[in-house]
Amino acid sequence: MTIDVVLLPRDLLPEHLAGRAVVVFDVLRATTTMTAALAAGVKEIQVFGNLEAALEAGHKTTVPHLICGERNALKPPGFDLGNSPGVFNAREHRGVTLLMTTTNGTVAILAAKGAATLFVGAIVNSEAVAKALVSTGRDVTLLCAGTEGYVSSEDVLGAGSVIAALSSQTKIRLNSDTAWMAHSLFRAERERLKQALSESRGGHNIKRAGLTSDIAVCANLNSIDTVGIVEGDPPVVRLWSR
Ligand code: MLT
Repeated sequence: MTIDVVLLPRDLLPEHLAGRAVVVFDVLRATTTMTAALAAGVKEIQVFGNLEAALEAGHKTTVPHLICGERNALKPPGFDLGNSPGVFNAREHRGVTLLMTTTNGTVAILAAKGAATLFVGAIVNSEAVAKALVSTGRDVTLLCAGTEGYVSSEDVLGAGSVIAALSSQTKIRLNSDTAWMAHSLFRAERERLKQALSESRGGHNIKRAGLTSDIAVCANLNSIDTVGIVEGDPPVVRLWSR
């Protein structure tokens, strides 16, 4: 299995997607939140590129749903929930459809639509993501969402956590310096992930919004064993099962 890491959606080339299994990382917080929501039993997560589209879908749908996401890390007006992974639980959310838009994470998912197989990944489910990737038998692209067009270390750590998990499950070849950098960063920081996330670009945004406790949730390595797979156009994230 060869592995590439792409640091920002704007760096994606067609060859990063065609025939490959791709994982999108927005560790703080979109892909962690999607993973936590699926683990709590939400039916599916419909992904939207802007606030208006999510709100309009909310008006049209007849199924039980919640509109969630963020702008500037905060719950947008008219939304039911923000983008905090810790709020999801089976009692309240099992079977609910989420309509979601975020600043960077959902945009990265939309950019990766051409992948042969598309997963959402995070630090919280890196082992499970690695298993899902191995089961595809495909070469892999790990796509970091970044933060407002800047590389963000929390997403690089997420990519590195999946490379570390893959290296213990199968034979891998790191195909780019960015893959090597992600793996090295994760190995250097794995015992202090909460602090590393706290010091990242995304971490500063979360702290500024008064949501510091979300960082510990997002840094909790392998606390969740489920994986989201993205299918369809417009994209919908559902629980992946082998
Ligand atoms: C994003 O998609 O930009 C994020 O997940 C940001 C956030 O959660 O505040």
